[in-house]
Parts: sequence; C-alpha cells; structure tokens
Amino acid sequence: MAETEQVNKKDLMDKIVALAKRRGFIYPGSELYGGLANTYDYGPVGVELLRNIKNLWWETFVHQQDDMVGLDASVISHQKVWEASGHVGSFADALVDCRECRSRFRVDHLIEDFIEENHIGEEKLKGALDVWYEHAKSFRNEHHLDESLINKVTASKKVEGLSEDDLQLLINALNIPCPNCKKHNWTNVRKFNLLFPIHLGIVEGEQSLAYLRGETAQGMFTDFENVVASTRVRLPFGIAQLGKSFRNEITLGNSIFRTIEFEQGEIEYFFDPEKSEWEKLFEDWKEQMFGFITEKVGIQKEHLRWRAHTDEERSFYSKRTEDLEYDFPFGFKELWGLAYRTDYDLKQHIKYSGKDIFIIDPYTNKKIIPHVIEPALGINRVMLMVLCDAYTEEENRTVLKIHPKLAPYKVAVFPLLSNKEQLVEKARGIYKDLKQHLNATFDDRGNIGKRYLYQDEIGTPWCVTVDFESLEDEEVTVRDRDTAKQERVKISELEKYFREKLQ
Ligand code: GAP
Repeated sequence: MAETEQVNKKDLMDKIVALAKRRGFIYPGSELYGGLANTYDYGPVGVELLRNIKNLWWETFVHQQDDMVGLDASVISHQKVWEASGHVGSFADALVDCRECRSRFRVDHLIEDFIEENHIGEEKLKGALDVWYEHAKSFRNEHHLDESLINKVTASKKVEGLSEDDLQLLINALNIPCPNCKKHNWTNVRKFNLLFPIHLGIVEGEQSLAYLRGETAQGMFTDFENVVASTRVRLPFGIAQLGKSFRNEITLGNSIFRTIEFEQGEIEYFFDPEKSEWEKLFEDWKEQMFGFITEKVGIQKEHLRWRAHTDEERSFYSKRTEDLEYDFPFGFKELWGLAYRTDYDLKQHIKYSGKDIFIIDPYTNKKIIPHVIEPALGINRVMLMVLCDAYTEEENRTVLKIHPKLAPYKVAVFPLLSNKEQLVEKARGIYKDLKQHLNATFDDRGNIGKRYLYQDEIGTPWCVTVDFESLEDEEVTVRDRDTAKQERVKISELEKYFREKLQ
C-alpha cells in the first residue's frame, strides 16, 4: 500500500470514529471518569443498528431454518466448563511491555502490524528470520527448532503457533520499536490468560471461583443434553446463541474491533460423521455466511475474502478453520470464523463432568456423540464493518449508505417550518402513524437542509417533509438518502410505499 493511501485510510478511520461519537453510534466507555480502556457504550442510534444486525442474524439462522433452535445460556459459568474447554489451560495471549512508556502490546499484533506497515517483503522477512534461526540455534537445542516455521511465517506473514522465545527473537531480529515511543526497550514476552475470573458468594473464604464466559459456544455443549431431551431435534441440527462474551484482551485501538466485552452470534451445527460429510457441510456454511454478509447486510463482495488458517494457528482440535475477512481501513481482518471442531468439546465435557452426553439415532437406536461445525460471528465487528462500508463523502455532505433494513431509523418526518402549527400538527400525525409500522423519527429543529444533513449522517434512508401544499393535496415530499431525489407521495399510501421499499 502506498504511504499516502495508508495515511488516507488512517484518516478515514478517524473520521468514522468521530462521526460514530458525534451522532450517537459509539461512545468511549466510562468517559465521564476519564474512560476505561477497550470498553465502549452504544448510543441511541448505535443500539438500534446493533439490534437490527442481531435481529437479522436471528431471523436468518434460527427462524428461517428448519434445523436450528436457539439458546440463551448464562454469562457466568462454572469453572469446570472452562477447564473442560481448555480455556483455563491455554486461552492466553503473548504480551510484551515497553519499559520506556509502559505500553503493553499483543506480540502477534505487534509483529504482524510491523511487517504490514513497513511493507516487509518475503526476501527481507526471510533474511531476518534466517538471522533469528541462526541465533536461536546457537543457544537452543537444534531439535527444538522447526526450520519449516521460517517458510511458513514468511509465506503467511502470521506468527501464530510460535513459542514465547521465538516471538521474542523475532521482535529482536526485525528490530521492532515500540509503536508509541519508538524506543527498543522491551520486557520479556509473557503469556496472560484471557478469561475473567469472578468470585461468587459474600462470605470471605467461602467464595467460589467462576468465570465470565470467554465464548458463547460452550453453552451449546453444556446444554446439549437439555436441548435434546426437551425438544424434537434430530441430527443434523444446530443450536444458535447471541450474547456477550468477555476476554481480557490488549488492543491497538480501532474502535470496537477488539474489546474486552463483545457480542457473538455462534452456531454449533451437530452432525453424525457417519451420515454427513463434514467437507460438504463446511462448504454449505461458507456459502450461507457469505450470502448473509453480501445479500442481507449488503457488503460488496470485493471487500471480503476467505483466509484458511495455517496448521500452526489452527486450534489443535480443529480439522479445518477458515475466516471470512473484511477489508477494514486498517487492513483485512477477521469477521466470522468457521471451524470443524470434531467431537472435541462434547468429549471434553463428558470427561470433566463424568456424565454421558449423546443423542440416540431414532433408526438404529445407536448412541451418537455428534461432531460440530461452528460458524462464530462477532456482532460488534459487523457493526464496525457496516459503518466503514457505508461511510461516503460527497461534495456537500457525508452519508452513511447503510442497508435500509439495518438503518437505525427508516424514515424521518419534518414539518417544513417549525413555527407553523398546522404543518407541525400534520407532520406529527404522519410520524405517529408511521411509527406503528416502522422505526420513524421526528425533527423540527433548524432548517430543512440541516435536518437532511443530520439524517444522512445517521443513515436514515428516507425523509418526509410536510409543506403548505400537503395541507391542500394530502401529499408529502419523500427524499431518498442515496440519490437525494425527491418525489411526491400520497399520505394515505406512505406506509405501503415504505413497506415495498423495505422489501
Ligand atoms: N467459539 C469460537 C470463537 O469464539 P473466535 O475467533 O475467538 O472464535 C469468533 O471468535 C468471532 O468473535 C471472531 O470472528 C470475531 O468476530 C469476534 N471476536 C472475538 N474476539 C473479539 C473481541 N475481543 N472483540 C470483538 N469481537 C471479537
């Protein structure tokens, strides 16, 4: 990427973040008290957009499917759940601190961003890695070093799977400075667990340890038996859940892209591996996920790509993982993960709980421990993607061209003049009628031009203006957000007009 293009993209991200705050999409968390890092609040239009995204996801993947059921499991969960899932033992990030300015970074992000931002090509990277390898050999047992890692890191420009020692060497080999103060005074690389422990009970000494969930997925495994026993499901079927997850993560800004509290929309799709081919299910899910983002959320295909995980970065229990990535202003980043998790999770819970977890095949009466394919989506990332994709600067205005189905308000109703009682009354009547059918808003502040600019910036697809003629002919002016074209529509037909547009 050329340097100017990079500056423009940084500039673009700053503008989107500023608009999101100015217009009530996203506020920094606890701002009144100086802010709390990596937390955000969703303002009056942000909460509508987030809710619309969740409703669309639920509609598509639960209500419109005949092989899916929903679940809403507790956010606070038993410590054994997370021991069984492997999170207590290995859900950790490698972090490093700058001794000069005390900033803390995730090492994989520090290295990968450095490679990307400095356009370090394959040759240069290979050179640095060769030096690193030679250096490592001099003080480490050669058998512990995997030379093929050099080729993999060079090819993928990803560092997942490297040990803390290797990451440390790589920081040195590439001579990476602190992104904040530009000095080279790093602490050792250390691992930190991402789970948030909490202590239940009020009597000290008798408190028990629990965790805020690190992913919604585990609820589908721990409640598998309950769902099977209480419903009429048959394999293959999926359990879907929307809800908050918590991870004690270090982030590099980029607004809500990575936060410590976030929402996931996850599905565990259970199947009998003797009856269904996982490769086919995997491809089917890829198609459904891509279709959702392009057709329902309205994102252009060119802004998306699939990226298969390398052997090193893929979790050991997954046979295949691919990420659907979106081209954010800060580069292509993960939006939605798809993993074939085999029967790993159910077997872990069988082992840790000591209970049998299975489903009976109604034809053979055989006990089956199903395998799963897991599409795991970050809802807040979808919102950030929608804002980035919709943000459009035109000569005299900034417009958020959000898909009308997702737009916070569908229609804004204005009286031409706020000091003419008849116009205000008529406009209020139309607003109240429309509000029965769709999310409408009313505005009589400032002049019409200012009201249009405001609605454009929050992505309202249509504005309705009541003028003096409306009092005579019972028609209003409807202005389209994207084209700024206006047309007269009968008041009695407004509801039908918008219903058809929204379809
Ligand atoms: N159950 C599998 C799982 O949780 P993941 O890749 O860690 O997989 C799934 O998370 C999705 O959740 C990611 O693709 C991303 O969109 C979102 N996500 C993960 N961590 C996040 C964070 N700290 N902030 C916002 N979204 C996050």
